[in-house]
Amino acid sequence: MTGGAGFIGSNMCEHLLGDNEVVAIDNFQNVDDRHIKPLLRSKNFSFSQLDITDLDKLETLKSSGPFDAVIHLAANSDVKGGSIDTSTDLKVNVVGTYNVLELARKMDINEIMFASSSTVAGEASVMPTPEDYGPSMPISTYGASKLAGEGFITAYSHYYGIRGSIFRFANIVGRNSTHGVIFDFIMKLRKNPKVMEILGDGTQRKSYLHVDDCVQGIIFLHEVSSHTDIFNLGNTETTSVMDIAKFVVEGLGLQNVRFELTHGEGGRGWKGDVKLAQLSTEKALKAGWKSSLTSDDSVRKAVREVIPQLTDLKNS
Ligand SMILES: NC(=O)c1ccc[n+]([C@@H]2O[C@H](COP(=O)([O-])OP(=O)(O)OC[C@H]3O[C@@H](n4cnc5c(N)ncnc54)[C@H](O)[C@@H]3O)[C@@H](O)[C@H]2O)c1
Repeated sequence: MTGGAGFIGSNMCEHLLGDNEVVAIDNFQNVDDRHIKPLLRSKNFSFSQLDITDLDKLETLKSSGPFDAVIHLAANSDVKGGSIDTSTDLKVNVVGTYNVLELARKMDINEIMFASSSTVAGEASVMPTPEDYGPSMPISTYGASKLAGEGFITAYSHYYGIRGSIFRFANIVGRNSTHGVIFDFIMKLRKNPKVMEILGDGTQRKSYLHVDDCVQGIIFLHEVSSHTDIFNLGNTETTSVMDIAKFVVEGLGLQNVRFELTHGEGGRGWKGDVKLAQLSTEKALKAGWKSSLTSDDSVRKAVREVIPQLTDLKNS
């Protein structure tokens, strides 16, 4: 698994470790080793600090194989930064994904699960957006890089018979978060519990999915699928940024917090922020998968999980 030290990666490792051996890699670009330290106690888990942009070093993994499948989660996950540094998404998410596919080809690994994103669609005119919506016109380099990654996976699938499951995630939330709106709001309120800056006009609406549903969905849908395919993984309902702000304030037990909206161009939080992201989950439903929590409940649960983790971090 790539990106094993990260938010979704560490939850995925935990989910798999009961019945599987997991070899995880990460270069600690976005997070330190706090989420993988407890996993190292499992005899089924091993970890190497490796960068997916360095194919020569990745090839050292050949001695740890053979592997049944790759779960490719490593990425630059900072969507906001794309308009400032336009090369990171290209290097990490496009070249990195190519390198992971090259390694899979060289090691005869026949299955890959890939973390893509709702951002590949850009500002879709169809809501909820199905997997076959087009043309895909991303509005961020992050979305563009995920679309490129999807293309490389389907191409490798065609050339070399690697079966790929591509997952277009909604916004994933829950324990071990390393970034994202809930994480940002909690950090801001810890600094100043009286005022909270909200990027954009607060009306941005996206669908949120709890990380437990996400990791279970990846494995379930990959197992039931017989060919290379794309699945949306999310909830059909959405939650507004303003509602998330209220859930966080409530969760922290604060009162009289003043919200300061940055408004931004067209109400966006940043350049490349999609104002409405709502994925159709019909295809996953037909394949037998359904999230266990609504979008609002996923956010509420995540708020309850992330607050104590960030408190521990502050005190450590
Ligand atoms: N969290 C979400 O809401 C969400 C939504 C859509 C897609 N995704 C995708 O899901 C995957 C996991 O995201 P996450 O939320 O857990 O983010 P994350 O940042 O916590 O995890 C990504 C991990 O990749 C590692 N990484 C970054 N660059 C690397 C490199 N060059 N070599 C090796 N490791 C590297 C980071 O250190 C991090 O641990 C990513 O591909 C992300 O783009 C996440």
